[in-house]
Amino acid sequence: MADIRSRLRDVSQIPPLPESVEYVLKAMRDPQVSAKDITEVISKDVAMSSKLLKVVNSAYYGYRGNITSVTHAIVMLGFSTVKNLILGLAVSSLMGNVESSSEFDLKEFWLHCIGVGSTAKVVARKMGFREEEEFFIYGLLHDVGKILFYQLERDSFLELLRDARAEERPFWQIELERGLFPHTSIGYELFTFWKMPERLVNVVAYHHDWEVGENDKEVKVIWLADVLTRMFSIGENGAGNFVDDNEMVRVRELFPDALEEDSDFRREIEEEMNKAEVFWEILRRGGA
Ligand SMILES: [Fe+2]
Ligand SMILES: [Fe+2]
Repeated sequence: MADIRSRLRDVSQIPPLPESVEYVLKAMRDPQVSAKDITEVISKDVAMSSKLLKVVNSAYYGYRGNITSVTHAIVMLGFSTVKNLILGLAVSSLMGNVESSSEFDLKEFWLHCIGVGSTAKVVARKMGFREEEEFFIYGLLHDVGKILFYQLERDSFLELLRDARAEERPFWQIELERGLFPHTSIGYELFTFWKMPERLVNVVAYHHDWEVGENDKEVKVIWLADVLTRMFSIGENGAGNFVDDNEMVRVRELFPDALEEDSDFRREIEEEMNKAEVFWEILRRGGA
């Protein structure tokens, strides 16, 4: 297990991002790159642009077939939303075609991720944060380290899942207790290597750390959304949907009504889940 960090340092273990996505990341760092430059690069990547148009024309945005080009998508949704969406789609595609095993059902895992994304939108709305679309992508990608953990150290990963289920405690707590290199750090290494935007890297690295979340709104929203998604049993992160007392207390403090049956909160999450169906279709087919 100790060598997972060094294996991550071995670049050959890390899947490369498509060139078009590298370009989008460059554009996020470099304000000189224009929407026109991005449009050209993305339009040439047939797989990416067709996935992008599929999402844009789905119930998620509600344009229902009216958007026919990348340029049009940028005009309608804004440059920043499209860039984030591309990152979400690219990582999902790369990570989506990992095989399930009897103990780690990838479909349930992705449902957990879409659940955290959808819940994050509702949490952000309730807390008065505007960038709902960004929060969805942060939620979708927050547990990316788990997929890589599973790919690189399958036996150790499955053992941790078993222990979490047997002890009825959250997975991250078992990782912490054993002093392992956790999925949050694996995700951090991966996203740093890919030069992902800093806010996204922080979410991946600290989404189980409330102390960081108190001063970082993105981390805070995903922390809460992850706990709520476990409480509502939306999907399953492979380790059972256990929450600890501390998590429970914080959620109840901030959203006292959320856990009541038929609460508005729950209904809003369900609506968001329905809208996000297109992501589920993309992931269910192994990112194809
Ligand atoms: Fe996590
Ligand atoms: Fe999670």
